[in-house]
Amino acid sequence: MLIQEIYNLAISKGIESDFRGRNGVERILKRKKEKFEKISEEERQGFDLESLDNPYSDSRVLNINQNKDIKRILVGVDIEPAEILLAKQIGEIDLIIAHHPLGKALANLHEVMELQCDVLNQYGVPINIAERLMNEKIEEVDRGLNKVNHQRTVDAARLLSLNLICLHTPCDNLAAKFLKEKIENSGPERIKDLVGLLKEIPEHKEAEKIGAGPKIFVGSEENHCGKIALTEITGDTEGSPKLYEKMSQAGIGTVVGMHVSEEHKKEAEAANLNVVIAGHISSDSLGINLFLDELEKQGVEIIPCSGFIRVKK
Ligand SMILES: [Fe+2]
Repeated sequence: MLIQEIYNLAISKGIESDFRGRNGVERILKRKKEKFEKISEEERQGFDLESLDNPYSDSRVLNINQNKDIKRILVGVDIEPAEILLAKQIGEIDLIIAHHPLGKALANLHEVMELQCDVLNQYGVPINIAERLMNEKIEEVDRGLNKVNHQRTVDAARLLSLNLICLHTPCDNLAAKFLKEKIENSGPERIKDLVGLLKEIPEHKEAEKIGAGPKIFVGSEENHCGKIALTEITGDTEGSPKLYEKMSQAGIGTVVGMHVSEEHKKEAEAANLNVVIAGHISSDSLGINLFLDELEKQGVEIIPCSGFIRVKK
């Protein structure tokens, strides 16, 4: 497979599993194109044209050194210059796939957070509230990303002549869809049942061995789950802490996320929500695995690194 084919496959699988549905994604892209047509020639300078067809600004082809048939890939959750050197040391790595965004995909990560508005709305939070609170947070994340050295790892790949791409939300969408179906099919009553269900997933089981498995961050084992919301698995990074009160008012009882900050934890507690954390790197691994099986079927060899737990699905 060529790099672009691998990348396109990830984007299309991301759209297939997107909580907004294919139609929802197409509506967003259509609006973006309409806006683009109205902006001036000057404003078009530096505009990311790929964003007109690809809804995931946090996933990009970052460096193509040699556009060859890809037989062996190094895949990691966080790829830094250390992993680029590792790839060189291992040798014969045709492509490196990072999960967390790098380069321009890191600089524009915040754009994907809009996805959370629609997901919150699907769980009953009025769209005006979700939009207002998420917009505040999106702007904060955008400002925060400004100080980051976005190109550091991309430069390392370029200097060592290695192909590099990153795939973030497409994989997180796959993980979110998988978890939603598993939870809805089983319908856990109590928090301990929900945690038990998460622990059945091999990636989380593996993470548990090193103390990073599913954990209750807010609430207790015997609490009823109530309505379970998968609002924090995909959509880049944590939303606004002010949303928990609104989620509680919308009838949500339990939030399943990848990770939660102290500020978010306190707000969730105040809103009487339960928060179950599936595990960050293991949830990332779950989504990456759901994509990689497609590549392996086509004969691509996968070498996991940087925390990535490879499990065939
Ligand atoms: Fe992640």
